[in-house]
Amino acid sequence: MPHVVTDNCQRCRFTECVVTCPTACFHGDADMLYIDSVACIDCAACVTACPVRAIYELTDLPEDKAHWGPINAERAMILPIVDHKQEPLSTANARRTELGY
Ligand code: F3S
Repeated sequence: MPHVVTDNCQRCRFTECVVTCPTACFHGDADMLYIDSVACIDCAACVTACPVRAIYELTDLPEDKAHWGPINAERAMILPIVDHKQEPLSTANARRTELGY
């Protein structure tokens, strides 16, 4: 099953994940990234790269984050690929602290 980016990415967008991906399956808007569920080969390399633990394997999603599966699939189809590290959002470090990481 593919991996999924969840709400912890919002106000962070660290993009550490994209450089680990062998299939360039991350797509992004101004708020966060999303994984293309077709392109993802389930290597899980991105999971530990994310400093705020935003990424889950689809079947491991907590119940309150289950809606992020379809959101990733839908958003990734219409947004541009992000395959290079970018500057995190200006709110990233505050959000990381807020999340306890
Ligand atoms: Fe978001 Fe974590 Fe990647 S904050 S951009 S999923 S490294």
